[in-house]
This record gives sequence, C-alpha cells and structure tokens, in this order.
Amino acid sequence: MDIQQSLAQPAIAPAVTLRADYRPPEWLVPETALDFDLDPAATRVRTTLSVTRNGSHAEPLRLDGAGQEPLAVKVDGVLVNDWRIEGEQLVVPLAGDAHSVETEVVIAPDRNTQLMGLYASGGNLCTQCEAEGFRRITFFPDRPDVLSRYRVRMTADSARFPILLANGDPVAQGDAGEGRHWAEWNDPFPKPSYLFALVAGDLAVNRGSFTTRSGREVQLGIWVRASDLPRTDHALHALKLSMAWDERVYGREYDLDVFNIVAVDDFNFGAMENKGLNIFNSRYILADPDTATDYDYDGIAAVVAHEYFHNWSGNRITCRDWFQLSLKEGFTVYRDQGFSADQGSPAVKRIEDVRSLRAAQFPEDAGPLAHPVRPDAYQEISNFYTATIYNKGAELIRMMATILGPQAFRAATDLYFDRFDGTAATCEDFVACMEESSGRDLGQFRLWYGQAGTPRVSASVDHAPGGGRATLRLAQRVPATPGQPDKQPMVLPLKLRLFGAETGRPLTDERLVLLDQPAETVTFEAITERPILSINRGFSAPVVIESDRTAADLAFLSAHDDDPFARYEAMQQLMLDTLVAGAIEGAADHDAVVAAIFNTLENPELDYAFMAEAVLLPSESFIGDQLAVVDPEAVHRARETLRRAIGQGLADSWRQLYAVLQQGPYAYTPDAKGKRRLRGVALGYIAASGDADTGRLAFRQFEAADNMTDRQAALTTLANGDYAEREAALDIFYNRYADNSLVLDKWFQTQALSSRADTAALVEQLAQHPDFSLANPNRARSLIGAFGVNQRAFHTAGGAGYRFLADQLIALDTLNPQTAAKLLPPLGRWRRFDEQRAALMRAELERIVAVPSLSKDMFEQASKSLE
Ligand code: ARG
Ligand code: ZN
Repeated sequence: MDIQQSLAQPAIAPAVTLRADYRPPEWLVPETALDFDLDPAATRVRTTLSVTRNGSHAEPLRLDGAGQEPLAVKVDGVLVNDWRIEGEQLVVPLAGDAHSVETEVVIAPDRNTQLMGLYASGGNLCTQCEAEGFRRITFFPDRPDVLSRYRVRMTADSARFPILLANGDPVAQGDAGEGRHWAEWNDPFPKPSYLFALVAGDLAVNRGSFTTRSGREVQLGIWVRASDLPRTDHALHALKLSMAWDERVYGREYDLDVFNIVAVDDFNFGAMENKGLNIFNSRYILADPDTATDYDYDGIAAVVAHEYFHNWSGNRITCRDWFQLSLKEGFTVYRDQGFSADQGSPAVKRIEDVRSLRAAQFPEDAGPLAHPVRPDAYQEISNFYTATIYNKGAELIRMMATILGPQAFRAATDLYFDRFDGTAATCEDFVACMEESSGRDLGQFRLWYGQAGTPRVSASVDHAPGGGRATLRLAQRVPATPGQPDKQPMVLPLKLRLFGAETGRPLTDERLVLLDQPAETVTFEAITERPILSINRGFSAPVVIESDRTAADLAFLSAHDDDPFARYEAMQQLMLDTLVAGAIEGAADHDAVVAAIFNTLENPELDYAFMAEAVLLPSESFIGDQLAVVDPEAVHRARETLRRAIGQGLADSWRQLYAVLQQGPYAYTPDAKGKRRLRGVALGYIAASGDADTGRLAFRQFEAADNMTDRQAALTTLANGDYAEREAALDIFYNRYADNSLVLDKWFQTQALSSRADTAALVEQLAQHPDFSLANPNRARSLIGAFGVNQRAFHTAGGAGYRFLADQLIALDTLNPQTAAKLLPPLGRWRRFDEQRAALMRAELERIVAVPSLSKDMFEQASKSLE
C-alpha cells in the first residue's frame, strides 16, 4: 500500500468480520411475535421475543439494530431501564435462562432509500431483509443461525393498503375501526430473520393452484398493480413448472398451503426467497410479447425457479453464517440452471451460462475484488452477493455432480436435505454429504471453496506419425489473487475425447480425467491417425484452457465435435485467436472464421438457437481480457473488421436466412424463439456488411414487429450505427413505451451499450433526461451499469467516462449504497489498461474513497480496488 492510499483512508476503518471468528449465538429465539402499525411516514413495530440462554454463560442479550431508538423495553411484561446501547446493539441484562423480551420502535419506510428493511415502492410497503435488513425494522439477533417461529400482525389503512401479506399461512383478519383493518399470518417453519417479509398495498392477484405429489393443494398468487395483471401468466406458469420439477428431479415438495409472489418496481437485485412470500423485482415477473424479449421470458422463468427452489436449498436448510452464502446460492443457481436446461435446449443453456460466467466471474476472479467461493473476511456482506458466490459456486456443485455421476449425486443431495433439514448448515456439511454418500474422497476438491482465481490448464497432444500411442500433457496453474500469493493444485474434472484429423471420426470414448497434480500425462493406445483434442467438454471445469491447437484443428472441431458445447467452444477459440491477432497486429486472416461460420449455417443437424450462439463473436471485454494491456479501440476495430468480413463474405447466407426465418404471428415456442434469435444475428451481420439498405431493413423490422424480441433487435442495430432512421426509431420507441418503466429501461440500456464512437457523450446527456433517476435501481443500472460494461465507451480516451461514473456513484451512494457499490467494479480494472487510463481510473477511485460520509459498502469496494 502506498502513501496516497493511506492518506485516503477514513479516520475509522470499517470493522472486518472474519469467518474464523464464528461463535454460536448466546441466546436463541424460539418464538417471535411482531405487531406492525403500518404507516409510510411512521410505522410502529412492537416485537415480543421468547429468548432462551444457549449454553451456560453470563452474557446479556444483544439485539442488532440500525439507528432506531428503542421507545420501550419490557422483560416478562415489565418495563425495564437497565438496558443500554452499544454501537448499534441493544443490550439487555437477563437473570434467568428463559424470558420474554418486548421492544417498541418507530421507523419511516417512506424515507428508506436504501431499499433494505421496510420501505415504500409505488405507494405500497414491502420489505427486503437479506442479508442484514431485519435490524432496520426491529431489534433482533440478526444472524442466519438464529431460527425463530414468526407470528405477524399488521394493522393499516383499509383504502391505501387493502392487501396485507406476510410469511406462512393467513390466520385471521378483521376491521380495526377508523378506516383501518388488520391481518395476522403465522409461519410454522422456524426461519432466520433474513427470510422475514411483509407486503401492504393495493394489489391485484393472478391466482393458480398446484397439487403436490402427496396431495397438498397449494394456493398460488402473483400480486401486482392491477394494470400489470395481464403480464403475469408466464411467471405463474413458470412457478407451477418449478414446483413439479423440484419434486421430479430432487424429490422436494412444497410445505405450506399458500405461495405468494409480489412484484415491486424498486428493488436492489433480482428477487428474494422469503418463506411463502417471495418478493420480486418486477422485471422478473412482468412479461407479454409486446414488452418482453425472449431473453426476458427466459430470465423470468429462471428467477421464479431459483426463488422457489430456495424453499429447500436456503429456507428449510439455511446458512450458519454469511461466509456460507454459496451453500444456498451456488446450489440454487445450479438447480435453476438444470431447470432451464430441461425447458429448452441444454446445449444453448450451457453456452449462455458459460458466457455469463466469463463476462462477470472470470474478470472478478482476476481483479482486485477476487475472493473465494467461501470467503474468509468481509467488511460489508452485501458486497459478497457476487458472480463468484453465485455462478462459480454453481460450477463447484456441477463439478461434484460430474465426479459423482447422476445417481450418486441425487443420493447425496437426499442425504443433505434429510440430515440438515431445519438447521443452519455450512459448505463443509454439503461436501461431507457428497463424500459420505458416494464414498469418494473430496479432500483436495475442498480447495475450490478456499482458493480464489481461475485455474489455467495447458494441454497438448503428442503423436508420432504412424505410431499407435498418443500422449496428452496437462499442466495446471492457479494465479495469485489478493491475499493468496501461492496456490495449491486443484482437482479439475476434464471431460475429453480425441478425434481423427483424417477420417473425422472419434478415436476414443469420452473420458473424465481428474487432473489433481501440477502436471500429468494421459496416454491413449491404438491411435492410428493424428488426433485432435476435444477438452473440457460441456465446460466440465470452470478453467481457462491453453492449447496448441491450430486454426485448422479448431475449425475441424467446430464442424465435427459431437459435444455441442465443445463445438461452440472451438469456434469461439478460433474467433478469439483471430481477434487477438487483429487487435495486436492490426490485421488478421479472417478466412478460417468465415468458413467455419458458413459450415455451421449450412449444417442441417443444428438447431437455430445453437447456430445463433455459435456464430456470435466474443464480446469486446472478453477479447480485452485476453490481452496483456487492453487497447479498447484496437479491440473494437479488430472486432468490427471481422464482423464486416463475416457480413460481406457470407452476405448471401445472411440475406437468405433473414428472409427464410421471417415468421407469421408471434408464438412462444422453442422453434419460434430460435428463429427470432438467428434472424436477429443475421440482421446484425447484414448491418456489419455496410450495405446501403441496412437502415431501411432494420427500420422495417422495427415497425413491422409484433413482439419485443424483433423490435429490440432492430432498435439495437439502428442504435449501433449512423443510420438516417436511428433517431426516428428511438423516438418512436420512447413514445410508445413512455408509461412502461421496464421498457424505458431498455431504451436507456440500448443507447448505453451502443458501439458508436459518441456513446460516452450521449450517456452523459441521458443522465440529464427527465426519465432518468438514480433512486430506482433498475433505471440506474440500465444507464450507469450498462455504460460501465461498454468497454469502448467507458474507456474513451481522456477519462470523461471514469469521471462520469464516479460522479454518479458518489451521488447514488447517498441514496442506496448497496446498488452504488455493485456498479463500481469497472473502475477497479485499471491494472488491465495503459498507464494514462490506469492513472485516470485510480484518480477517480481515490476521489470516491475520500468522500467524507462514504458508505462502508462503497469504501470496501473502492479501497480494495486501489490495492
Ligand atoms: N437471496 C436472494 C437471491 O439470490 C438475493 C439476496 C441479495 N441480497 C443482497 N444483499 N444483495 O435469490
Ligand atoms: Zn438465490
């Protein structure tokens, strides 16, 4: 750490929580009764806790709070005044081993801009408690290993808040006089405070029902504002599919008589799995063909499934402490990925998941915020809801499933669910079940939980011409990450297979090699022709493969590999090699890529959705990730040059596909989705060719579209270019959807992601647009978040983009630290850029760290990014 940095530190460094410091709770809370007198400006919360001493000790009861003043504290019904406030905790001395402790506070949901705890959104009241929001509602031991049974009473104005929902099952409701009413809910399942939820509002419901395999009839409800009701069928359908899937695939059944989902417009992330009362960002509920793309539809089904699956992997079995977050998140992402794969094409789903792992998790693992799947320390737990915990965490589960095989894996998850039901468990508990149930030793595998960084594997095959033996040399290396300079070799499950260069036939079966040494060789006998290596098939390990395969080998695999992912991967590597050469040398040979794309488009065995994925070029950021020093303009030029070569070289194919894939009226079927996707890609390549009619073609599609997928694809093409129709399309889109905030988000986002040279300036203007607001997280992400991942625009020479982002984040931090901190990582990539850019980026991070009242969320992210 240098001097400038230590000058930038605040006087009081935020406290660090260490995994090694875990101690069981001193007091348990078997029962919790909450009584809410709801009002946006002043909500009175009366809480009665039955507490019991855990073990023999003389410690007082410590309840977490967050700023609120206790108005009264009673012990066993009697007012006491020997309590004290220490830091943010309420400390109550207790003489016996079991007491009833009552507190009363008043909170102001309408001034809660952090959207944690109880807050107002669109005139309704709702909660978000994970990870540490419950302490903003009432005093409580706000940690996931304190499980309590909750009874909730709510009283509110009958006209403004006709609907009152909470966890569990409804018990009773009635009139409270003076225009107010009340309702009571009871949740029979003990749960940690982060799963608490209530909603009060004027909501309409789309009802459904699901009968579980043991015959329980569950009443389902999707609650939204009345005008959104027509957009809820897809989510309701996805919920029913999820319930059936979890019974069939994991043997997990739902356990209450009601399951409610509420959609709210102001939400810090995707959705929340509160017991029996999921609360969702409305973007993951609302869909109809006119306003949602196929991608949105898929996202809704995935998130509905994810939150539903948490009922077992998260709620029935929760986390002992927040270092174990991936226990529920990694496993649940793995489960929702399996669900989505089963709804459509497993190959395309795998490709999408790997693409997003590479877009978000690989850079995180290679940068200043890298952390293990089970971290050792945090300042602010909200900063650890990351691609590493979620998506790399899911890859860890997938690797164990691969190593065990499907039957053994299912037996192991049964054991896990059975043994830890009703408890707060650890990642170690999960791995131990995998081990015990299957009899496999996962000792070394556990390194995946503790070591950060993406392993790199080098692979090369030797084969003497005419000889019968092939030797595969594998070596692994795990790069250093912050706080972890030296790494041990990991267990890498690599699926591989050899193909003959002459006959094109497979020379071996698929093999699973567990690489667990720094270097290993694998030999293959009876190899009679030059073998081409297909490795990490299905992306069996989340690693980077470095191989000496030639362009011809990769082209061969892209045409002949029988594993669809490996086929896609070979094409991506071929493209990447070409693009990296183009970025470094200023020119590259495009013929191999053009020919490989042609072969893919001509292959009658491939479906459209796969084709669309396979022919897409890697993103500019991913190309940048391959370079020693990112040159954003050189990357952009190399990619645009290759795009033009593909567009021109295959002009006839794109035109023909574009015509053939035109469809009749909109249908939401896998085939129709695949056609829309490939047609959108074709339009992009037609545009890349530079043909004069592109603007007209795109605008015609934009106007004729009967669905958002086609309209958005056309708008994106227009927004990326310099067409006469560009402004008109943006205006029409804006006016048509002016009253739909989710679609307006697309309008902002499409412009912020534009590949035009003037995007940075345009984004600065859009931040002044009357519809732009930092107070709504979706809107902030649609402009600021999208801009941060637009490599060319964000890194425009001179640093205006860095300054703009820092200004926005400093402003957003005063409202919503959690959302602000999430948008900071693009600034932390300074090490990857040239000296001028790096200095400018660092200067903005310094400026952020020096803000006097900076949140600890932002402080942690910004100060770590400077190290
Ligand atoms: N458990 C929620 C989910 O993954 C997300 C909660 C995020 N909380 C946070 N503080 N970022 O479904
Ligand atoms: Zn989750």
